[in-house]
Amino acid sequence: MATSQDRAQTWSAPGRVNLVGDHTDYNAGFALPFALPQRTTVVARPRTDGRITARSGDLPEVGFATSTTPGEVTGWGAYVAGVAWVLGEHLGHPLDGADLEISSTVPRGGGLSSSHSLECAVALALLGLAGEEVPVEELALLVQRAENTYVGAPTGLLDQTAILRSRAGHLSFFDARDLTVEPVPCDLEAVGLTLLVIDPHAPHTLVDGAYASRREACERAARELGVDSLREVDDVGAALAALADDETRRRARHVLTENQRVLDCVDLARRGDLAAMGPLMTASHASMRDDFENSVPDVDRVVEAATRAGALGARMTGGGFGGAVVALVPRAAVEPVREAVAAAATAAGSPAPDVLEVTPSRGAGRD
Ligand code: GLA
Repeated sequence: MATSQDRAQTWSAPGRVNLVGDHTDYNAGFALPFALPQRTTVVARPRTDGRITARSGDLPEVGFATSTTPGEVTGWGAYVAGVAWVLGEHLGHPLDGADLEISSTVPRGGGLSSSHSLECAVALALLGLAGEEVPVEELALLVQRAENTYVGAPTGLLDQTAILRSRAGHLSFFDARDLTVEPVPCDLEAVGLTLLVIDPHAPHTLVDGAYASRREACERAARELGVDSLREVDDVGAALAALADDETRRRARHVLTENQRVLDCVDLARRGDLAAMGPLMTASHASMRDDFENSVPDVDRVVEAATRAGALGARMTGGGFGGAVVALVPRAAVEPVREAVAAAATAAGSPAPDVLEVTPSRGAGRD
């Protein structure tokens, strides 16, 4: 006889890093993320009483009915409950129930999408137990809805797309208007390079007002320019000249120039000239720091120290207002960069950053 142990399923989903292209997704623009080797793993066992329980390390256990509605579960459990809610809506009936054991190696609070990797792993596990399949493009949209409506963060589609649709050894060229992903080969080892993720432990949250206010500024710019989204702008110079308010113009300039940097990086990567992406990454950071104003001093310090110590390029990755830096580094400069970012933190009286060497890894799936 099958026991619930036999029917347990294990699914996992990676964290993500965005190499370039931030705050472009909700402007129907371009991004170039990849999946991290660090993953969230969910072991799911079926229940039939319409309840879901979730446990994860030292976090408080959560339990709720699968007929949950937005607002009911808060805290970390909202990421799990939001997914159960949206899947119930999608299937047209609440799920049967599940016990979920969650573990994760994705650093939390570093802007590496630990919460989206949790949501995606839970979504796949719950669908797996229900014997249902949803195409990844659609699943990304469902998880986004859970995040927007249940968790209450007005985020775009970048993270779910990177997590669900990335391939090992590739960057994912994402077009957020057409919802296409082109895998672009990225063999760093072959050209003597590596990618570092440097987390200065600068607190990062997207649920507060800063992310939403940046999104509003972009939407205002599009409205003033008479286009549906900033992606529809053809003549960047003319569009920027037409925006009267300085702050709105700078927010739009970040998005418009960032789209071009993504396209340029994709061209370089397709040609195998990965090193030449470095200066574009650093330019992207300057654009976030000066125009989008979503960086913080701890993060700027890492970017400066890393580039001075030999990184070809470095930038904050993800939503910002804290979070981690991604740096493109020649192998010979890895140790100097590690030392430089640690020394810069000590001089500023900040804790030493964590430095991870990462490679583009596989997307979410069954283990
Ligand atoms: C967060 C959001 C994404 C995206 C990035 C910025 O990670 O979840 O949708 O907007 O910020 O690029």
